[in-house]
Amino acid sequence: MPQIPETIHELTVGQLSARSGAAVSALHFYESKGLITSRRTSGNQRRYGRDILRRVAFIRAAQRVGIPLATIRDALAELPEERTPTNEDWARLSAAWRTELDERIKQLGRLRDHLTDCIGCGCLSLETCVLSNPDDVIGERMTGSRLLPERRGA
Ligand code: FES
Repeated sequence: MPQIPETIHELTVGQLSARSGAAVSALHFYESKGLITSRRTSGNQRRYGRDILRRVAFIRAAQRVGIPLATIRDALAELPEERTPTNEDWARLSAAWRTELDERIKQLGRLRDHLTDCIGCGCLSLETCVLSNPDDVIGERMTGSRLLPERRGA
């Protein structure tokens, strides 16, 4: 990764992209979602403070473990004066997200087990295939397409 001299206090979007490893489009997306901010030059170009590098690292690390952007944004918004996350912030938040991640891993394990039943089957039955209709609440009470209007004369 390219080093940026300490004397440079603001980065262009290209420098931020090169240093953080995030695509320019991703940085624009983060900004549109309020995760990072920039100031505009007189020529309407974006400039990012150096601390945004750490913020982007925080966002990308959280995304890698599957934390939704909305959750990341909420976590960043909770920091006083929207400051850059410190080591302690990351330690605290990553510990809290660990529980969420464990639950997601359990759910994925269950899905994997169900998928094993589907391999080589192909029925996609609404009655027997857990993956084709996992939240079939009505199916617990009745079968068939009971929500469709009765055909006249059928
Ligand atoms: S496709 Fe037959 S059980 Fe899922």
